[in-house]
Amino acid sequence: MRKQIAAANWKMNLDLQQAEQLMTQLLATDHSLGKDQLALFAVPFPYLLTVQQKLAGKTNAKVAAQNCASTNNGAYTGEVSAEMLKGMNVEYVIIGHSERREYFQETPAILAAKVNKALEAGIKPVFCCGEPLTVREADTQNSYVAAQLKESLFHLDKSQLTDFIIAYEPIWAIGTGRTASSDQAQEMHQHIRKVLADQYGQEMADSVSILYGGSVKAANASDIFGKPDVDGGLVGGASLDAKEFAAIINSLK
Ligand code: PGA
Repeated sequence: MRKQIAAANWKMNLDLQQAEQLMTQLLATDHSLGKDQLALFAVPFPYLLTVQQKLAGKTNAKVAAQNCASTNNGAYTGEVSAEMLKGMNVEYVIIGHSERREYFQETPAILAAKVNKALEAGIKPVFCCGEPLTVREADTQNSYVAAQLKESLFHLDKSQLTDFIIAYEPIWAIGTGRTASSDQAQEMHQHIRKVLADQYGQEMADSVSILYGGSVKAANASDIFGKPDVDGGLVGGASLDAKEFAAIINSLK
């Protein structure tokens, strides 16, 4: 059975002390995670160890990196490789967030290389896709998102994509307070699953967790996560508030 996942994406926020405080507050909240549920904390690289220590011993709460290099170790000043993350027992990495695509010119080919490096290191990618507002207004979001999947993932074998994690994040909903409706989310998630099924078969498609991202908060999480093809969320702003994120965890199916 595919996992239901609440993934926090802290982005480039908080100092170390605030990061520790947020984790302490979160761990003190009333939240529960079942067998097929997972909480992920995608924190800035310098905080990975600290947050990992806070989560020590928990089988269903893990840290994630927000990015990794598209190359192996070498002369790439400022980069962090998937091998390094593996050495720190980091099991998940976000790849292809729209902010990386837009502000750091990460192309589909670069993202495909990052996905390869993560998988070679045994790290699970959380692969992001999603359309800008102009594409949504032209009602061409389905082909746009299908192309994103095809360009960066379809070189992989079925076995590499089994139990994979995809996050659908419409760019017009990220950090804007304008959430996609639960019906819009379901429609796109169903489409993503069909695109995967057409390429790799229904069994593989059914094993993939597809998260929704874009202004998820405690007040809308149950409605969105309640849809059959929505397997949780990738949460930015609301993940910086312990009570909000705990309520989002408790909204998982
Ligand atoms: P948001 O960000 O929840 O603040 O909209 C989501 C994301 O970018 O992952």
